[in-house]
Amino acid sequence: MSLDKVKLSASAFAVAALVTVSSGLLETAPAYAKTSDQPAVLNASAIAVADKFSADAAEQIFKEGGNAVDAAVAIAFTLAVTYPEAGNIGGGGFMTLYVDGKPYFLDYREKAPISATRNMYLDDKGNVIKGMSLFGYRAVGVPGTVEGMWEAQRRFGKLKWKQVLAPAIKYATDGFEVSEQLQQRRDDAAKDFAGKTNFDTYFGNLKQGVNFKQPDLAAVLTRIANQGAKDFYDGKTADLIAASMRGHGLITKQDLHEYKAVWRQPVEANWNGYHVITAPPPSSGGIGLVQLLKMKADLAPDFKDVPLNSAQYVHLIAEIEKRVFADRAQYLGDPDFYKVPVAQLIDDSYLAKRAAEVNPTTPSDTKSVQPGLGTSMPEKAETTHFSVIDKWGNAVSNTYTINGYFGSGVVVDGTGIVLNDEMDDFSAKPGMANQFGVVGSDANAIEPKKRPLSSMTPTILTKDGKVSLVIGTPGGSRIFTSIFQVINNVYDFNMPLQDAVAAMRFHHQLLPPNTIFWEPYKPIEGELAQQIEAKGYKLQGQDFSGDIQVIKVNGDTPEPAADPRGRGVTRMVQ
Ligand code: GLY
Repeated sequence: MSLDKVKLSASAFAVAALVTVSSGLLETAPAYAKTSDQPAVLNASAIAVADKFSADAAEQIFKEGGNAVDAAVAIAFTLAVTYPEAGNIGGGGFMTLYVDGKPYFLDYREKAPISATRNMYLDDKGNVIKGMSLFGYRAVGVPGTVEGMWEAQRRFGKLKWKQVLAPAIKYATDGFEVSEQLQQRRDDAAKDFAGKTNFDTYFGNLKQGVNFKQPDLAAVLTRIANQGAKDFYDGKTADLIAASMRGHGLITKQDLHEYKAVWRQPVEANWNGYHVITAPPPSSGGIGLVQLLKMKADLAPDFKDVPLNSAQYVHLIAEIEKRVFADRAQYLGDPDFYKVPVAQLIDDSYLAKRAAEVNPTTPSDTKSVQPGLGTSMPEKAETTHFSVIDKWGNAVSNTYTINGYFGSGVVVDGTGIVLNDEMDDFSAKPGMANQFGVVGSDANAIEPKKRPLSSMTPTILTKDGKVSLVIGTPGGSRIFTSIFQVINNVYDFNMPLQDAVAAMRFHHQLLPPNTIFWEPYKPIEGELAQQIEAKGYKLQGQDFSGDIQVIKVNGDTPEPAADPRGRGVTRMVQ
């Protein structure tokens, strides 16, 4: 489809232009620059974060003169202490940034250990050994968070490194009050770890109302504050991680020494008058989000007058999602190991062709929906996200994870560091579904030093060079379908931001066939459930549906919103 045709057919939901996208390593990183001392362009800095302690940390950093990157790094380290079910220094993640009018993307995703092998989770009959990639030492990928935060702050931060670590060290030393939700998540996770890990030694006392102190973690954070990322990858903390793994897991000092975060080109696309800046591979999320936005725009005539979250709306979105997940299963993996056809997957004419295959009335037969360029995958839904904007107009959208709540359940002895179970995001047996029910191909098979495929989708929308929206969420394979729904609610249905975040969400991902997942927060029931079932879908409840943290900029005023599904909070700082 030519650009003109796209403009003609897309009408009110206009896809404005062809996308300029590439993915992969930036060969030559731009010269390191500090944010300029330009006058403020917004009347406040703002954050939307997963808990109140990290909000306080960010407020402190802004008051000390820090920018969005300083605040983001302080939030990340604080959540590692006060939101230990997903905040972390034992995991990894992605940071999308918009600094001094330019987009950046930092990949600090975990990597497979050097001694990892393709079949490491299979028994001698070739069957996946249940739970092995989820719980315990062999589930752990080489962590990237400390290196990622170090790299981001070194490149763009204004404050001293020690300053941004200070709030986290205070919470680890002095303690913080445990919430009901945190205890609940601990209790649920502990059942899976029982007898397999040392989890309870460190987190047995994580009870609602208790002032929870973490002296070992405080010592680690203090070393990192004094020595930088070097402590974690080459120093005493590296020694302790390697010692903890010996005889149990695969990570060695060499794995830690060789870990590097990578600056990549973000996925960028023009949509509906906005410039979308989002996550490239090894995330599937950015591509998935752009595919969803554009296919929905292509189908504007079909969506005309269809009420939000009606049975017909759910059907049309599920039809689009079917096609997105077919592509995800086949083409997505670590771009350092596998050439991901990013540009083709978000090309306007390709997506118009895929959108034209959507059946407007009944679900397309699942088997008939094949990857468009030329086979599908489950994942852990937990993770956590925060959104930050400073008064100079710089923004950070950061999603990071240890995969499941409390990751692998392994705590590094003498450190209090909870280690991830990110190895489960690889395809243990290509063609078989993972814990999120999504299927992977060879592109996401286990290889030494490879990064597992992710769905994390930290996203920034700009208009005329200025930040309009900073958004992201946890949710595994539900991440980009959740972000997509909130963006639709805001821009296509003009909903107030908080209502857009609170609105019902649903999810379909090709497999299981014709299944619509609903969430406990706003269940699909009654007449709506009957209408969706009458169309040929099965309805299935899921225990989680994201925790969106978003900031929308209205003129020169940022408006943050935290998802009522979690314990997130927002803050504006003058
Ligand atoms: N572990 C969840 C994700 O990376 O999407």
